[in-house]
Amino acid sequence: MNVYDSARMADILKPLGYTVQNTPENADLIIVNTCHIREKAEQKLYSDLGRYKPFKMSKQAKGEDMILAVAGCVAQAEGEEITKKAPFVDVVFGPQTYHRLPEMIARAHRATGKRNVLDVDFPVESKFDYMPKPTADSKGSAFLSVQEGCDKFCTFCVVPYTRGAETSRPIQAVVEDAKHLVSQGVKEITLLGQNVNAYHGEDGSGKERTLGDLLFALAEVEGIERLRYTTSHPRDMHDRLYEAHRDIPQLMPYLHLPIQSGSDRILKAMNRQHTGDQYRAIIEKLRTYRPDISMSSDFIVGFPGESDKDFEDTLQMVRDINYPSCSYSFKYSIRPGTPGALMENQVPEEVKDERLQRLQALLREQQLAFNQQSAGTIMPVLFEKVGKHEGQLIGKGPNLQSVYVEGNERLIGHIENVEIIAGHQNSLEGRIVTIS
Ligand code: 5AD
Ligand code: SF4
Repeated sequence: MNVYDSARMADILKPLGYTVQNTPENADLIIVNTCHIREKAEQKLYSDLGRYKPFKMSKQAKGEDMILAVAGCVAQAEGEEITKKAPFVDVVFGPQTYHRLPEMIARAHRATGKRNVLDVDFPVESKFDYMPKPTADSKGSAFLSVQEGCDKFCTFCVVPYTRGAETSRPIQAVVEDAKHLVSQGVKEITLLGQNVNAYHGEDGSGKERTLGDLLFALAEVEGIERLRYTTSHPRDMHDRLYEAHRDIPQLMPYLHLPIQSGSDRILKAMNRQHTGDQYRAIIEKLRTYRPDISMSSDFIVGFPGESDKDFEDTLQMVRDINYPSCSYSFKYSIRPGTPGALMENQVPEEVKDERLQRLQALLREQQLAFNQQSAGTIMPVLFEKVGKHEGQLIGKGPNLQSVYVEGNERLIGHIENVEIIAGHQNSLEGRIVTIS
């Protein structure tokens, strides 16, 4: 979502004459777009700001100016605290107000050195109504935000506080953006939302629709060859979504469905609102609708009170489900203001370390086995960029596996059939199948 938001900020600033630079030295404006989900991400902000400060000073010494802005969820959560800790920051704004960037920048120019601009509102207007149509940030595939915020309040998570309440964009607005992306050569669209399958946008008649309905509407848009969505919550797997997986060929056979823990006791303490067996039943049903679907998940180890037995339940869940696609696992990180931060029985750091290593070893094993099984198959690959080696292209298969081949750069943004020669830990090696 932050990658998407940053690209939208660039879109908004383009009419003002700003273009994206690859280095910070001579920038007129630096926006640090932040994440607040874990403590480490938050700490990164202050080290980044320390790195950028000398660039601002040296521009000022030349009689020029640089606006330094902090965006995203740390800005939302910390607000004025940021300018207290780092007074050289000019603008602080949250994820829901970046459509007001031109105004904030104008105010910062007028106020430089005198006062900072702060905008961490949850405005009544939707930022999407004030933004230019999205530009595709990579050739071939693009993100598209359809839902934001969260009403689930998992006890470890800051998202409901920083991103605010759940909102969904109307079906028509999403379809319009999708058509615009396709007109720029986009073939694959990944729908984004903190809780994307809780989507409940309105259709043309004002009736609330589900994510499944939205996917069926997008499947009608000519030129969209691949659809994906992320991130989902197990509580919001509606029937229409299963049907979408069965009936929409463009919907790729892959689902990121975070479970966080395999222990019912911990799931309850996390307020995830489902049990391990309910999750198993979801996956089983999905596999009957779309047998080739592959799964990935997010996991948290060391949530307060997690015993050895609870952790074993997580490992058992991983063995039962089999997560061949790239999963994400984290050590529980105390987030101030969340119920988890006040819980007793915090787990010692070294226990979290050990559990994380064991979990990641198991996930790596499953991923390697899946990648090795792919050897000998032929799959359509959407090429996205050049690789590290001369003449190498990198793309994505239907299950989101990273595939590299020898090929011509002009294939970037195109889908070609690739025969997989070998499966490695994080990628597949293949050759383009030429049709004679
Ligand atoms: N500690 C560790 N991981 C967390 N996540 C969210 N909050 C925390 C936290 N306090 C993880 C969850 C979520 C992913 C986006 O980040 O696994 O699914
Ligand atoms: Fe955070 Fe996801 Fe839980 Fe919402 S559903 S509180 S975003 S982990």
